[in-house]
Amino acid sequence: PIFSRIVATGGYLPERVLSNHELEQMVETSDAWIFARTGIRSRHIAAPDEKTVDMAAAAARQALADAGLRAEDLDLIIVATTTADQIFPSTACLLQARLGNHGAPAFDIQAVCTGFIYALATADRFIRSGGARHALVVGVESMSRIVDWTDRGTCILFGDGAGAVILSASDQPGIISTHIHADGAYADLLQVPGGETRMTMQGNAVFRMAVRTLGEIVQETLAANALTAEDIDWLVPHQANIRIIQATADKLGLPMERVVTTVEHHGNTSAASVPLALDDAARRRCFQPGQRLLLEAFGGGFTWGSALLRW
Ligand code: ACO
Repeated sequence: PIFSRIVATGGYLPERVLSNHELEQMVETSDAWIFARTGIRSRHIAAPDEKTVDMAAAAARQALADAGLRAEDLDLIIVATTTADQIFPSTACLLQARLGNHGAPAFDIQAVCTGFIYALATADRFIRSGGARHALVVGVESMSRIVDWTDRGTCILFGDGAGAVILSASDQPGIISTHIHADGAYADLLQVPGGETRMTMQGNAVFRMAVRTLGEIVQETLAANALTAEDIDWLVPHQANIRIIQATADKLGLPMERVVTTVEHHGNTSAASVPLALDDAARRRCFQPGQRLLLEAFGGGFTWGSALLRW
């Protein structure tokens, strides 16, 4: 059988760092409140002329270089984003042109913070069915463009950035299983209603749903593979809030030393958060070959999902 495996990662964060102290000048809040409630100290914000595709291209080029592949070697390009630069073409097509690939299928996936897990699950299926050999999977967001900078309940949470992986065909797994879900009944708890409008969120209700649902998805993933929490070497969670991450780790009985966290300096970068966390930990050489990683995310929709893989 054919499997897919992550052979390289890449990441990009804009130069501009927005600290909690600067937010104190913008809305009625404090560094102490933000850090205690979310674990966030700072986040990166795209420059006014910096586009979503610019960030995606930077992360993608790093992943391609790490994989030792050229753009023309890619036979699938999937971009997970909620903040595309244009209505169309898709960010994936704009990225394809930037990279210089011609002919590979390229499309976007929109599942907000779960977008990267959706994209990974999709690319894995393409590769396992023989439909692709080398897939570029990117999670990228310009959240600063859809955040309401006058709403202290949301503007403190989000940041911009991009993460990328190259997924290649292999005779060894790789991706062991992926699990994705959605329930559109909860749209009004977290949404951007239209093109020129800004994000609204019922933070507390989202928080409670996220904790419950992420607890369920990690159990579903373990049960599907007849594993227990002791079999997991690393949890790589969506970086929305350190308290949500801790609650999921606690339910699994995983110590925080085995949980990748970037939320303190990235904030919530939505679809970029999981691949950025992967890239960050991979560059720090946290993961050993053969270790089991459990990726999970929860986001607007609601959408949620997980991926179990061997590094
Ligand atoms: N600074 C100071 N006070 C604030 C701030 C702020 N930035 N924001 C809210 N408050 C106040 C509220 O007004 C409220 O005051 P009140 O009691 O006088 O009404 C008080 O703090 C408590 O508000 P809660 O919303 O109950 O606080 P909570 O502990 O739930 O923390 C937070 C708020 C951080 C937003 C939390 O609910 C959260 O993280 N929710 C999940 C959000 C999330 O992860 N969303 C994304 C998931 S999906 C995705 O990634 C798109």
